[in-house]
Amino acid sequence: MKITMTDAGKVPVRAGSFGLFFEDINYSLDGGLYAQMLENRNFEAKDVCGDKDNFTVTPDGKYAWSVFPAEDAAAIKVKDDRPLFVENPHYLRIEAKKAGAGIVNKAYDGVYCKAGMRYKLSFWMRSYDYRAPVFAGVYAGGEKIFEVKAKPRADGKWHKYEFGVRTGKSCERAQFRFTLSAAGTLHVDWFSLMPEDAVLGIFRRDLAEMLRELKPGFLRFPGGCIVEGNTLANRYLWKNSVGQTERRRHNWSRWAVHGACEENGFRTDFSHYGQTLGVGYYEYFLLSEYLGAKPLPVLSVGIACQYMSSEVVPLGDPALETYIQEALDLVEFARGGKDTVWGRVRIEMGHPEPFALEYLGIGNEQWEADGNEFYKRFELFERRIHEKYPDIRIIGTAGPTVDSPSHKSAWEWTRKNLEENPDFVYACDEHFYVPPKWLYDNADVYDGYPRKGLVYAGEYAAHVMEAGAGRMNAPESNVWEGALAEAAFMTGMERNADVVVMKSYAPLLARLGYTQWSPDLIWFDGKSAYGSASYYVQKLYSLYTGDVSYKVRTDAPRTYASATSRDDLTFVKVVNAGEETLTADIEADFNFGELLRIVRMQGELTDYNTMEEPAKLAPAEIAPSAPATVELPPRSFQVLVFRR
Ligand code: AHR
Repeated sequence: MKITMTDAGKVPVRAGSFGLFFEDINYSLDGGLYAQMLENRNFEAKDVCGDKDNFTVTPDGKYAWSVFPAEDAAAIKVKDDRPLFVENPHYLRIEAKKAGAGIVNKAYDGVYCKAGMRYKLSFWMRSYDYRAPVFAGVYAGGEKIFEVKAKPRADGKWHKYEFGVRTGKSCERAQFRFTLSAAGTLHVDWFSLMPEDAVLGIFRRDLAEMLRELKPGFLRFPGGCIVEGNTLANRYLWKNSVGQTERRRHNWSRWAVHGACEENGFRTDFSHYGQTLGVGYYEYFLLSEYLGAKPLPVLSVGIACQYMSSEVVPLGDPALETYIQEALDLVEFARGGKDTVWGRVRIEMGHPEPFALEYLGIGNEQWEADGNEFYKRFELFERRIHEKYPDIRIIGTAGPTVDSPSHKSAWEWTRKNLEENPDFVYACDEHFYVPPKWLYDNADVYDGYPRKGLVYAGEYAAHVMEAGAGRMNAPESNVWEGALAEAAFMTGMERNADVVVMKSYAPLLARLGYTQWSPDLIWFDGKSAYGSASYYVQKLYSLYTGDVSYKVRTDAPRTYASATSRDDLTFVKVVNAGEETLTADIEADFNFGELLRIVRMQGELTDYNTMEEPAKLAPAEIAPSAPATVELPPRSFQVLVFRR
């Protein structure tokens, strides 16, 4: 068979077009990328249940905490009088009935510590008359991994107690414990246990490094549906997510009720899933810098998640001004000087230089429906943002489904507006969670896209339903069948790099046992992480991309290819989705040199990576045997690197 590349009609590939989409779903943030090891550390957890347009939120501050050593050893009560921080008013009163009584934190699946690592431990205490020492630490079985001792000041005031400890041994699924050395009563709040190797003191190192290895050009955050909220009040309020951590108001997670139904009383296993906002907008901007990615924050347009709510702020309602102002103030927060209200907040948080904010997503995946007048409200946001910040590149949205009337109508509206105003949107965000067959059938869909209107493929993944896609906690859904189809579809994105100017897989992270949405790019537990087959496909696309993309044809069924060049290197990506081994001759009407390297992924369609076999599906280097001929094994994805 032949793979033929043509120089005529080649198109530029914009720098940074490969990106990441981060949403706090699947315990990606609290219990994930945020290196904080304790769960519900501030006693603000809520128990949420409900369904579309009907949610019940009940404070449940004791969640993740239990009495030690036995239920009757102490009485614990969540209180809110004279709180430490009014924004998060709950704290815990512990009345120890005897020496050695206290509390234990669930810490998701228990505490994992590395031998020889330093940890920062802190907590706040208030005592009126209790003076005996307290002990806090990590214990595994009968063993003490580390322990600190503090003497409360019995002055009726809140005080913070901070420690640095180094572990001698490692531990898994251990207990974080806080005990009183005598009978008595104490108030406690804001426990914290952080590993000292956290990136920027904030992010779990292994996860942050895996993201950085993808070399993303941009980072879209913080969602996703959580931007919109299950109710308007539940939407992501970026202003609540900046400033002192303890003053960031806890919010319940839209994902706490995902999949709720009558049989389970509209409550899920994740009904306490919340957002402590220990990572907020400031930290997202820092993360973007660490990754070398341009930040792409997404904001609400006054429409709650359309799957979960019919709530909107009607057009013409003065309340909509708050939403517009949130967008304008965000630009000020990122770029403003010390003479601006929000610029000053950023500077006081420790970042005098502006953040490189260029993109703004307006609405997540809204579509025009039920009189929500999405189009008109987007036009209003666009006008107001560009009046003040003409250089901001606004990302529009084409709704949740491709191949749908709402998708068609969104593009018609976008293109019409672009005719009158070329800056109306920089790119329009389309989402597709689809079966592999759709991806193969549509691998050339962008060949036929009109050239007016750029695409941001903002959320996509192959969903292999037979392998468990769509289920909760299903790492087995990340099968090679899906990743291979993604690789094939992405050849079309790459060939049409003049239209598809941004792309990001979704979702990004998933904690094993805490996952609402499968498949996902990276799976982790409290200790380790591994990339799915899709992770490696994405990585190959990110690392091996040039700055110009050629027209490419293959002449065998079930084969897909794209090719880009940078300097003297040409990268050919080729998928053989068939069951036969093929031999491909690579031809071109330009000089692309000789085959230097082959990077290959191959597997059975049902294979997937696991914690035990994290690299079952991973790129392998194959030595080339001829200058322009290559073997295409069945069910394989390869990057062929040529040098002139
Ligand atoms: O990625 C999971 C969800 O899928 C996102 O929150 C939303 O944008 C889409 O519906």
